[in-house]
Amino acid sequence: MKTEFLGLKMKNPVMVAAGPWSRDGSSIRKGIAAGAGAVVTETIVTDVAVDVRPRIAYNGCGVQNIRMYCDIQVEGWQKDLEYAKKNGGIVIASISAHTPSELAYLASKMEVFGADAIEISLSNPMWESLEIVASDPETIFQMTKEVVDNVKIPVAVKLSQNVTNISRVAKAAQKAGASGVSAINTIRCILGVDLEKCEPTLTTYGGYSGAPIRPLGLASVATVAQAVDVPICGIGGVENYQHVLEYIMLGASAVQVGTAVMLHGHGIISEMIHDLETWERKNGITSIKNIRGKALRNLKSFDEMKVEPVTCTTNDQICEEGCNQCIHSCLYGAIKRRDKNVLVNENLCGGCGLCNDVCPTNKLTLTW
Ligand SMILES: Cc1cc2nc3c(=O)[nH]c(=O)nc-3n(C[C@H](O)[C@H](O)[C@H](O)COP(=O)(O)O)c2cc1C
Ligand code: SF4
Ligand code: SF4
Repeated sequence: MKTEFLGLKMKNPVMVAAGPWSRDGSSIRKGIAAGAGAVVTETIVTDVAVDVRPRIAYNGCGVQNIRMYCDIQVEGWQKDLEYAKKNGGIVIASISAHTPSELAYLASKMEVFGADAIEISLSNPMWESLEIVASDPETIFQMTKEVVDNVKIPVAVKLSQNVTNISRVAKAAQKAGASGVSAINTIRCILGVDLEKCEPTLTTYGGYSGAPIRPLGLASVATVAQAVDVPICGIGGVENYQHVLEYIMLGASAVQVGTAVMLHGHGIISEMIHDLETWERKNGITSIKNIRGKALRNLKSFDEMKVEPVTCTTNDQICEEGCNQCIHSCLYGAIKRRDKNVLVNENLCGGCGLCNDVCPTNKLTLTW
């Protein structure tokens, strides 16, 4: 599935996101070798920070990280970008800085070193600056404009979900001349608390990523797609080709994958691309244009929603042994057990839909 993001022609829409899996030339090459449409470098900064230990925690569901950017010095990227691109492939340099001029300096350097595009990353949730930079359209405008004015390669701005109005920030990026936006970065979190030690899992706030943030990424992409005209790259919790399609159908031109690469290796990128091609063939899709934004057109505002006369019905299939899940979940007391089956009282059913999703055997359906 060919696509275009930031004016770059990509052989498929699956990109590798910024992170330690793209921290140097050889790790970027792994992404390119896996077939990724493009690879984003780990964020490059002028003041390289010392890594704290430990810095990544996983609870079997989502990941918290407190890694502070890439540890290669700016000049070191000349060698690493050259190495990364030796066999071809698109590489986007992710950069971050405290001032517009420092950001523009980094962007110019990366352009000279051979980056195909820039992704401005000002949305790291470890920073205090989340509130003053990532959420402030004026600061985003100034930072972006300074970069756009100083490089010839295209520029994307990576947005945070930790903001009150993501549309305003996206519009500021577009107004400043960004060729596209990426959404979302990790979300400020504390993964958990060790009850013995009375300590948070990692000792400071970190960024949450992986499957649990996908619904937030999808909502952000849809919101941004309704606000700006530039291409969007969807990020957050992408683990398989269906997730890629979800982002595309909500308006994205490409997606980025981070945590899934960290947990399962670069092979997951090849798998997604292969499955995407199979799906395309099976469904007679000849261009990404056939599906991009298709679900966005069916996304209504709450005010447009109609009250449908929906009610729940059940089939004759026998219940899973010992299961009473739908009976517990029905807040309207509409479901009762009858031997190995359940009965739904349509007069009590409020049509909420929850029982349909909790049933392990798909016995329940909403009907009109
Ligand atoms: C360990 C780790 C390090 C990351 N480092 C960066 C970074 O350097 N720059 C950046 O813009 N995003 C960084 N991210 C955020 C990812 O690029 C991505 O936006 C986020 O993790 C959501 O996507 P995912 O759920 O596929 O991981 C990092 C994420 C993780 C888990
Ligand atoms: S749709 Fe909601 S109200 Fe109706 S039976 Fe199911 S859980 Fe109860
Ligand atoms: S959730 Fe499904 S299997 Fe479980 S009791 Fe309800 S109908 Fe039966």
